[in-house]
Amino acid sequence: MDSKHHLNNYSVEQVKNKYKQIYDLINSDLSSNIFGNYSFFLNYGYIADHNPQYSNVELPKQELNKSSIKLILEVIGDCDIRDGEILDIGCGRGGTSFTINKYFGVKRIIGLDQSSNAISFCKQKFENYRLQFLEGDAENLPFSNNLFDIITNIESSCNYPHILNFYTEVYRVLRMGGYFLYSDIFLAESMDHTLNVLDKIGFVLEIDRDITNNVLLSMNESAARHLAAYSKDKNEKMLNNFVALPGSKIYEDLKNRKMLYKIFRFRKEHGKIQSLNQEQALNYSNSLAIEILNHS
Ligand SMILES: C[S@@+](CC[C@H](N)C(=O)[O-])C[C@H]1O[C@@H](n2cnc3c(N)ncnc32)[C@H](O)[C@@H]1O
Repeated sequence: MDSKHHLNNYSVEQVKNKYKQIYDLINSDLSSNIFGNYSFFLNYGYIADHNPQYSNVELPKQELNKSSIKLILEVIGDCDIRDGEILDIGCGRGGTSFTINKYFGVKRIIGLDQSSNAISFCKQKFENYRLQFLEGDAENLPFSNNLFDIITNIESSCNYPHILNFYTEVYRVLRMGGYFLYSDIFLAESMDHTLNVLDKIGFVLEIDRDITNNVLLSMNESAARHLAAYSKDKNEKMLNNFVALPGSKIYEDLKNRKMLYKIFRFRKEHGKIQSLNQEQALNYSNSLAIEILNHS
């Protein structure tokens, strides 16, 4: 069986190209209206509920894009990232780099994304000697081994067709003892398998949080507002799903817990990747990337 089989007859390259087209379009759409200049975030956001919060940063009551910033701060939690060399994979419009630079004193942060339009926005808006941006593929990172202290990845990996390549690349470019701060939507049925694979690669799981309810609260509050930022000539169902309006497929799948929204903190330790057998590796093509694509 090749990976094509698991991707409903799409090839890995076709899936990547489709997501590139989608995000290039989204970014050019945003850049053509008045919201674009202030739209740094493409994540669904986090609103606190009765469960414990992990971030030490207190945000002001009124803050533009507060729930998106809060999601990033919760992903970082109490991890000490000051003075670190940081890589943000799937950086979108630079919101994570911007937030990390604003609230923590980092040495350097590189944002990487496969959307050229996202990267040109980031360069024009944020680039300086500490914040740098690069076009590239999460499954084939253009860096040497053991380079970064911290790698962040927020709401992007659900697009990666051969996600095992992403995990092994993160492991390769992270220094021993470095942290992989990771947040995304996952299919509930494949959660155990994902954690098992990450363990075999050599990641030690330090934090595992289910924030599905926090993300749903944020969607309730902001999805309708986010719709206003996109032009109305787009397919309505696709846009509703993209912003995760209540009633859309992603919203309902999170609500009925077919999908889960998680925050993980992993530490790189010596790996056991050779114990991943070929079948486990092949079966790791990401069916969520196709499911989301089919509703885009
Ligand atoms: C939902 S956005 C999240 C952006 C950002 N992390 C945030 O929180 O605002 C997903 C991003 O992942 C990027 N992406 C998708 N597939 C990718 C890949 N194979 N390599 C790099 N970036 C990718 C998209 O271009 C998009 O900018």
